[in-house]
Amino acid sequence: MKGIIAICLKNMIKDNYSIEKWNEILELSDIDPYIIINAVQDFDDDIILKMVDSTCKVLNISLEQAADAFGEYWMKTFAPKIYEVYFREVESAKDFILKMNKVHSSVTSNIPNAKPPKFKYEWKDDRTLVIEYISHRNLIDIMIGLIRGVGKYFDEELKVRKLSDTKAEVVFP
Ligand code: HEM
Repeated sequence: MKGIIAICLKNMIKDNYSIEKWNEILELSDIDPYIIINAVQDFDDDIILKMVDSTCKVLNISLEQAADAFGEYWMKTFAPKIYEVYFREVESAKDFILKMNKVHSSVTSNIPNAKPPKFKYEWKDDRTLVIEYISHRNLIDIMIGLIRGVGKYFDEELKVRKLSDTKAEVVFP
């Protein structure tokens, strides 16, 4: 997975908690504290998953809470600066969410054999969208945290709930 995910996690922990907590997370994950994370290169999935697991342990929070904190930070603080282009001319949470296949294939297009997550959309009614999460990584909680972050970015009260390990429902206001 792209190193940018780990950089965002590190910034979130530094801003919301402290650099000491980040160092504890690295230590618990058996990662060299002097590691240099390269944003554009591919980073071993196992390392990122370990970091997420250690984040929950060190901060004593659930995966869902960690995912919500990450999603909010990614959407409100991190991505608008780094990936400003994808925020241009998008006016609602719905439009943003529906663009996610294009965004993920575009941001990973320079990585040979990249496997970005894919999303299938199915409207239940004009406000209720079921999103199927297609990825080998099993990170639907992160997807849900990110979708909640999209709602926060656009200041819309989205109701997001997990239906299964591969599906989530979003109700737009
Ligand atoms: C500007 C907005 C966004 C950008 C630029 C972006 C970019 C990325 C990148 C670069 C990765 C690593 C992918 C890889 O290396 O294979 C990633 C992972 C991921 N993204 Fe996004 N993302 C954005 C928003 C979202 C949103 C709103 C969602 C929720 C639908 C989402 C869901 C995920 C998930 C679940 C992963 C983890 C990888 C996996 O499960 O396979 N992203 N994203």
